[in-house]
Amino acid sequence: MSAAKKEYKRITTKTLFEMKKQGEKIAMLTAYDYTMAKIVDHAGIDIILVGDSASNVMAGHETTLPITLDQMIYHASSVVRAIDRALVVVDLPFGTYQGNSRQALDSAIRIMKESGGHSVKLEGGAEISESITRILSAGIPVMGHLGLTPQSIYKFGTYSVRAREEEEAGKLMADAKLLEELGCFAIVLEKVPAKLAKEVAESVSIPVIGIGAGDGVDGQVLVTHDMLGMTHEFSPRFLRRYLDLYTEMGNAFKSYISDVKSKDFPNKEEQY
Ligand code: KIV
Repeated sequence: MSAAKKEYKRITTKTLFEMKKQGEKIAMLTAYDYTMAKIVDHAGIDIILVGDSASNVMAGHETTLPITLDQMIYHASSVVRAIDRALVVVDLPFGTYQGNSRQALDSAIRIMKESGGHSVKLEGGAEISESITRILSAGIPVMGHLGLTPQSIYKFGTYSVRAREEEEAGKLMADAKLLEELGCFAIVLEKVPAKLAKEVAESVSIPVIGIGAGDGVDGQVLVTHDMLGMTHEFSPRFLRRYLDLYTEMGNAFKSYISDVKSKDFPNKEEQY
């Protein structure tokens, strides 16, 4: 299939569907603030995810569980103000949609109204199908998330690869087909074997975006702070680091401190 790159002015859920049909891979990154979102958007990214990974990356929590709906709305509205082209997907945080479809709808409506985001992402399959259906009934696009779902970390016990066993792989495939049938516009597949991810991507017509899910899916997502090398301590096998900003920023800060202490900064040209 041809991978010729068509220029898209503004990315919509329809564009993503078209990209999958044309065999063009979809590139997705996270952002949680205006400045980062502007750089990522202007670089030409297709989807910006305002992920609940903000709980780890921005707030320093061990898991994604503590972040609140209000905090997600704050991050998402900062991102939306920066965007000219990308589709903005906003994570519904833990506790705002599971087990109560009315609450799920209210949470999704708050995200759309108060942040201006374009769509929401929810973790899970059959167990949250009522919530997904209700959100979709309000005209809000939904992205699914299967495989390693960090909001369920206390159920899994570890962040290791999911669906290695046949039973879990079968449930994941059934969930992916269900998400497509319900009307989700895409699915994130996190940390599952590449062979299974490829089979899932080939079994559904909606785009499957992988993170640690190999090269047989329709697109890739990484946490921006990880791929920039700002988060030093996190080194999973799937992560490609494009910069070592932890070291580079540290060196810049050291130079600044040294320049201030030595009275080199500011010089005569740097004052009024
Ligand atoms: O919150 C997040 O950043 C995510 C990605 C890991 C897909 O859900």
